[in-house]
Amino acid sequence: MRKKIALVGAGQIGQNLAMLAAQKELGDIVILDVPSYVNMAKGKALDLMEMAPHGNYDANITATGDYKDIKGADVVIVTAGKPREAGMTREDLLNVNIKIITDVAAGVKQHAPEAFCIIVTNPLDAMVYCFHKLTGFSKRQVVGMAGTLDTARWRSFIAMELGVSVEDVAGTVLGGHGPDMVPLPRLTTVGGVPLCEIAAKEVIDRLLTRTREAGTEIVKLFGKGSAFFSPAWSAIAMAESYLKDKRRVLPCAALCEGEYGVKGLFIGVPCLISSKGVEKIFEIKLTDEEKAQLAKTVSSVTKTVEETRTVSV
Ligand code: APR
Repeated sequence: MRKKIALVGAGQIGQNLAMLAAQKELGDIVILDVPSYVNMAKGKALDLMEMAPHGNYDANITATGDYKDIKGADVVIVTAGKPREAGMTREDLLNVNIKIITDVAAGVKQHAPEAFCIIVTNPLDAMVYCFHKLTGFSKRQVVGMAGTLDTARWRSFIAMELGVSVEDVAGTVLGGHGPDMVPLPRLTTVGGVPLCEIAAKEVIDRLLTRTREAGTEIVKLFGKGSAFFSPAWSAIAMAESYLKDKRRVLPCAALCEGEYGVKGLFIGVPCLISSKGVEKIFEIKLTDEEKAQLAKTVSSVTKTVEETRTVSV
């Protein structure tokens, strides 16, 4: 039997998730959105079914406004929520999106309690925290998509700067999904060659700043809305690792219970994603400077999570 993937949110990221999941034949796809958007979602599902002969995939793609239809989903990817507009921070979305996540958590808890849940909605670190708390799901089962995207951006900017294949750039980004995230140049390599040995400090500093501001760079260009291709691909990489037990090690927002000195918060850390979900968090020995940077991002995430407690839903 085919796997089942539920996409909660049929907007820009949701539609790209559906297309990628179909093209990769990850399973049958159900797209869920609010009643006023269900027809649009149904149109997108039908359009994707009609793309199948040229896309060369077998997948049943449907849309719904009813959580009953996500029953039995193996994976749920949540993009329901408002995206940023120019001049907004991710945190500015908190008041609106926490209400949406509360609604989504109730629906997923009731109808897909076994699913591996990937949260994409911003402010990411706070939304994944709330979703986990509201559902009571295990920590293996709930994860936030942020570090996978931040690392993809870091790798892309390095490849663009050095004129090398992005395939050969390896690295990781720790921390929250905000401007104080922590890319790690010390552990970044280009075909096995340490980045710090082939790029000047000023160049690395420029790439670090661009990575931290990458989401905002796109929001400024769009004017309205935020990135959608790269977030969709990042979430699909995580879903695929779970569904196919690929055991990829991807930076994800996972519940830390002592790792990196963090307790009870979802923070971007390198995670082994297997058919068990978040099977393991890898701890890296950080330098004092990196530890200080991580402490700063943890304090920003703590502040946003605390704000969620003051919002009435
Ligand atoms: N239940 C289901 N879907 C909902 C709900 C809800 N309660 N509330 C809103 N939605 C849907 C909207 O109707 C819309 O179709 O979520 C979709 C969001 O799509 P877009 O506005 O296009 O936003 P998108 O670019 O996909 O980003 C979604 O991901 O990266 C984050 O910051 C981004 O928080 C934003 C989210």
